[in-house]
Amino acid sequence: HKILLVNGPNLNLLGRREPSVYGHQTLAGIVTELHQQAKQAGVELEHIQSNAEFELINAIHATDAQLIIINPAAFTHTSVALRDALLGVDIPFYEVHLSNVHAREAFRQHSYFSDKAIGVICGFGAQGYEFALAAAVKRLNQPQ
Ligand code: DQA
Repeated sequence: HKILLVNGPNLNLLGRREPSVYGHQTLAGIVTELHQQAKQAGVELEHIQSNAEFELINAIHATDAQLIIINPAAFTHTSVALRDALLGVDIPFYEVHLSNVHAREAFRQHSYFSDKAIGVICGFGAQGYEFALAAAVKRLNQPQ
């Protein structure tokens, strides 16, 4: 099985970006741990981070993954195009946010993804990705 991990804009700054909100771990550190977790679970993990909406859309179009884990970052609150890409390829996805978006500014309360996601995880920091990956592996290993 293959899982695509998609990280949106500014997540390349993790570690130095508002650490009180997003934690001290870098994206490279988080992704290294997720690759180890995936290897142990016997699944392939592909990762893209981009600050450009079209790069994320193109990666979603191109993937042959059976499941997507996505932190759309600020595009969560703005991008109909990214939403449409996920619906267009018809690959089920989990939505992850490091911070608890519900405890923050009003403009972060609306997501263009949550009503279409299999599940949404927020407020658990980088651990949220681990939870999503564990859930994804379990789902993929279940007889359909
Ligand atoms: C985020 C929350 C978004 O509101 C914000 O724009 C981000 C990161 C999170 O992981 O908590 O860039 O998706």
